[in-house]
Amino acid sequence: MIAYFNGRFIPKAEISISPDDRGFLFADGAYEVIRTYTGKLFQVEAHLTRLRRSIRELEIADPGVENLCQVAEELLARNDLTHADATVYIQVTRGVAPRKHAFPDHTVPPTVYVSAAPFKPSPIKAQTGVKVILVPDFRWARCDIKSVSLTPNVLASQRAVENGAEEALFVRDGVVAEGSHSNFGAVFSGVFITHPATNYILAGITRAVVLNLCRDLGIPFQEAPIFEKDLRDAEELVLLGTTTEVMPVVQVDEWMVGAGTPGPITVKLQDAFRAYTQR
Ligand code: PDD
Repeated sequence: MIAYFNGRFIPKAEISISPDDRGFLFADGAYEVIRTYTGKLFQVEAHLTRLRRSIRELEIADPGVENLCQVAEELLARNDLTHADATVYIQVTRGVAPRKHAFPDHTVPPTVYVSAAPFKPSPIKAQTGVKVILVPDFRWARCDIKSVSLTPNVLASQRAVENGAEEALFVRDGVVAEGSHSNFGAVFSGVFITHPATNYILAGITRAVVLNLCRDLGIPFQEAPIFEKDLRDAEELVLLGTTTEVMPVVQVDEWMVGAGTPGPITVKLQDAFRAYTQR
């Protein structure tokens, strides 16, 4: 595969990253994951706007985010993915400097890495739904930044795998915030609810698309906290994310959600989302 590294398109296997890169030493950087549908980047402007915001909040210099759409398209072409379903991964770190916690000299340029890879979602899971587990939210209070410091998410996701679950949902102060790599929604009395876009979740691009679809489809929706104690009263639960898409949740820990099959609002949103990605 060809990847992009600091201004150059080169074979991924030939990229070498300095052990002094602050991404390696401190996980001091931000990232994005963008889907393509039949070669077309989905919601690329929204992803790049969020990347710009993450970088700004982390006080990393803008390495030229405005060029990254072109870089992504070039990568898709060079890797023969212009007609394929794929993901594009972008990472920006604070650059290479001898290890010291505070920022390096402002002349140190950020490191920029972009790669593309074929991607195939599981149609079976989307049809039958998945299991999730609940875990304590031990992350920091800036979950709105798409930082590469993902150790809590890695640990939570591993717990999920060990429990035969697709995702782990973080619970903070009795509120189910989001998953380790997806947002979370629930249907109560026919109303689609998802956590408000505060500092305790990543404001997902998929989440925003789905809220717009709710508006278009006339599905009542609300951005409000979902309490763990109310979870069993939900008619439907759903995960939302770039690689997760609209994924029905049919089991939480050891209990079943509703009838244990994807509910009607979830299916409606899945169909509308699928149609939207093909536009
Ligand atoms: N994760 N919340 C978290 C913690 C996430 O890591 C993600 C995405 C989302 C959903 O955001 P979006 O709809 O913009 O993908 C919510 C990506 C896909 C990842 O880490 O691989």
